[in-house]
Amino acid sequence: MNLTINHDAEVLTIDQPGGRRDVPLYSREAFELISREWVRVGWSLRYYHTFSWFGRPILQLPEDLIRLQEVVYEIRPDVIVETGVFDGGSLLFHASLCQAMNKGRVIGIDVEIRAGVREALSEHPLSHRIRLIEGNSVAPEIVAQVHGLVKSGETALVILDSNHTQAHVAAELEAYAPLVTRGSCIVAADGIMRDLSDVPHGEATWAHDHPAAAAREFLAWHPEFEMRQPEWKVNTSPLTQNVTYWPDGWLWRKA
Ligand SMILES: C[S@@+](CC[C@H](N)C(=O)[O-])C[C@H]1O[C@@H](n2cnc3c(N)ncnc32)[C@H](O)[C@@H]1O
Repeated sequence: MNLTINHDAEVLTIDQPGGRRDVPLYSREAFELISREWVRVGWSLRYYHTFSWFGRPILQLPEDLIRLQEVVYEIRPDVIVETGVFDGGSLLFHASLCQAMNKGRVIGIDVEIRAGVREALSEHPLSHRIRLIEGNSVAPEIVAQVHGLVKSGETALVILDSNHTQAHVAAELEAYAPLVTRGSCIVAADGIMRDLSDVPHGEATWAHDHPAAAAREFLAWHPEFEMRQPEWKVNTSPLTQNVTYWPDGWLWRKA
């Protein structure tokens, strides 16, 4: 697909195998098409490697963090579980929300928690909100350990951001979805991989092997969940779709 912006005519021209058409430049459809390219180009340039939260690198698109904040503020979970710690910024993001709400704690799981990361998190003012677990997120003993840390009746929200193959995310969904309480959700992050198979640093296999495929597969077997992006809390615009790295990633346990 080729996109051409004509600023003077205020038109976006879309060339596709099926033909060519124009849409108004200042329209919802043009915003969505341009955003898709912005996400692809930005990802290839590692735009998401340029952010930190409370002093630690965080590998997320800020748009997703704002949407996640809206969800956390509404659900006010007792516990946020995240697979994939990396440098700890996302755990601090969740912990900072818990701290601001004076409610909740965070459990982070990673196959390798480097000494510098463990040290930085343990010395951080938000450390009392964070519990680290080192190990493969789908290993039975790790899954059991996490389940053991969540008490019956607690509201839990889960974010899957470790290994992003369809098989691994599928296994994580089976392992951690049972923790998710009614009205809460489990997020399979980085389904955007399906749109990145042809960009620099992307991989051809991502066209079919990605977290969104795991989420769709999970949904087919779990009617107690539904897939939808979080409801926008405010919207005076004509827009409706998230600009996101997490398409088809939000799975909600039906109330
Ligand atoms: C994308 S990074 C996580 C980014 C982090 N959530 C953030 O927002 O800054 C992925 C992490 O998953 C971890 N990982 C990869 N395979 C894993 C597995 N099987 N179990 C647990 N963690 C894994 C890696 O070590 C890496 O730190």
